[in-house]
Amino acid sequence: METNLYAQLAEQLTEQIREGVFQVGDRMPSVRELSRRQAVSISTVTTAYGLLEERGWVESRPKSGYYVRRRHEESLAVPRQIRTMPRPRPATTSQLVMEVQRDVAASKGVSMSAAIPALDFPIVKHVQRTFTQISRTRRLLGIGYDSPEGLPELRQQIARRAVDAGVFVSPEAIITTAGCQNAMALCLRVLTQPGDIVAVESPSYYGLLQMIEAFGLKALEIPANHETGISLEALQLALDKWPIKAILSVSTFSNPLGSTIPDERKQALIDLLERYDIPLVEDDIYGDLYFGERRPRAVKAFDPDGRVLLCSSLSKTIDPQLRVGWVMPGRYFEEVVHRKFINSIAVPSLQQMVAAEVLAQGIYERHLRQARETYRQRYLRLLDLVAEYFPQETRISRPDGGLVAWFELPAKVNTTELYHRGHAESVFIAPGELFSVTGQYRNCFRLNYAQGWTPEREDAIRKLGMWIKEALGR
Ligand SMILES: Cc1ncc(COP(=O)(O)O)c(C=O)c1O
Repeated sequence: METNLYAQLAEQLTEQIREGVFQVGDRMPSVRELSRRQAVSISTVTTAYGLLEERGWVESRPKSGYYVRRRHEESLAVPRQIRTMPRPRPATTSQLVMEVQRDVAASKGVSMSAAIPALDFPIVKHVQRTFTQISRTRRLLGIGYDSPEGLPELRQQIARRAVDAGVFVSPEAIITTAGCQNAMALCLRVLTQPGDIVAVESPSYYGLLQMIEAFGLKALEIPANHETGISLEALQLALDKWPIKAILSVSTFSNPLGSTIPDERKQALIDLLERYDIPLVEDDIYGDLYFGERRPRAVKAFDPDGRVLLCSSLSKTIDPQLRVGWVMPGRYFEEVVHRKFINSIAVPSLQQMVAAEVLAQGIYERHLRQARETYRQRYLRLLDLVAEYFPQETRISRPDGGLVAWFELPAKVNTTELYHRGHAESVFIAPGELFSVTGQYRNCFRLNYAQGWTPEREDAIRKLGMWIKEALGR
C-alpha cells in the first residue's frame, strides 16, 4: 500500500463531506465499491476510512459500513469578540488567581483549571531517568555560576528547534530562563517603567495580567478574535490614541482563546511595530502543540530588525516542573541578560543539562507527535461531552492546538459562582474574570482538555453542564 494514497483518499472524502456531497447520517460508499471506483486496494480504502473515523468524520456501524457522523463543531457556536476597547487600567491583584494556582499545586479532585500538559506520556519517565543519569555522571557542584546567558548546549538545541517556527537565530542570541513567565517578566522589566501602558490581547492569560499589575503598569485590552487573535485594526486605533510602550501577545494557540494570528497578519503586525517603533513580547509557549499539518510560524519569523522578543519554555510540551524556558530578545539582548543577572544571576545547571540532553534525542520529536494527536482527540471528546451535557447556547472555542478551550455562556451565568460551586465539589475550572482587568468575561471560563478522559472527568463535565442549567433556571 502506498502511504500517500490512503491519505489522499481520506482528504478527498473529507472534502466531499465538507462540501455536502455526503451529509450527516449518509452511508459512505462501501470499501469494495470505492476500491473498484478509485482503482486502489481494499487495504488503502480501509486505512483511509480508519483515518476519517479517527478524525471524527465518519463512524463505522457493524456489518453496515461507514456513516457520516454529526460533527459537534457545527452544532456548537464559537465565542464572540468583545466589541469595545476599554481604557488602559492597572490590573487588580486577584486573590482568586492565587486560589486557583494553589488548587492546581494541590492536585485535588478533577482539576481542569490549569493549562498543564498531560503527565502520563513516556517522556516524563524518560526525563526523570535523565535527571538520575546526569546527576551520576556530571559534576554539578563546585563549578561556580552558570553564565548569565545560560548553558551553551541547551541554547544550541533551542536554536535548532526554532527553525520549525521559521526563526533562524544563533545560539548566542538566546538566553535561558526559569520558564516562560520568567522570560516575559525580564522582557517587560527591560521595556517599561511603572505607569507605562502595555497592550495585551483580550481575553488574556492571567499570569501576564498579574505581572502587569505587579510592575505598576497599565494594561490596555485589545479585542481578540477566536480564530485570528489580536485585532490589528483595534490595535492600530489604540496605537494612535495611547502612548503604548510594548505589546504582549500569545501569538499561536493563545491562552485562553486558542487563537492563532495568520501569517499575513503576522507580517502586518510587524509593519505596525515598525511604523510605531515599538517592541512585541511574543509568547510562543504552545506553538509546538499544533493539530494541523505544520507548526505555525512565530511573529519573530517575520521580524527583520530584532523588535520581537520571543519567549517560550518546555512547561507545556514536557512538564512545568522543569522550569526551563528561554528568550530570544533580538536587539534587547544586553538589557535582558543584565536583567536576568540582577534577578537571579543564573538559572540552575542541572535542569538545563537535562533539557539539552532530552531535546537532542529523537524521543522529544516522537513525544510531540504523540502529544499533538492525543490532545486533538481529547479536544474532540470534549466537544462530544459539551454537546451532550451543556445547554445549547454554549459557545466553545476551536483551538488548532494547545491545551485549553474557552467557553462563553449566556450572560446570566456567573462563572465565578460556577467556580465556587465546582470548588465545593472538587471540580476545578478557571473563571473568566481572571482573564481581564476590566471585569469582562464573567460568563466565560477556561477548561483544560489535555488530561485523559476518565469516567470521573466525564462526570465532572456532566456536573458542570447541570450547574450551568441550574443557573439558567432549568
Ligand atoms: C501563555 C502562557 N505563558 C506562560 C506561562 C507560564 O509558563 P512557564 O511555566 O514556562 O513559566 C503559561 C502557563 O500557563 C501560559 O499559559
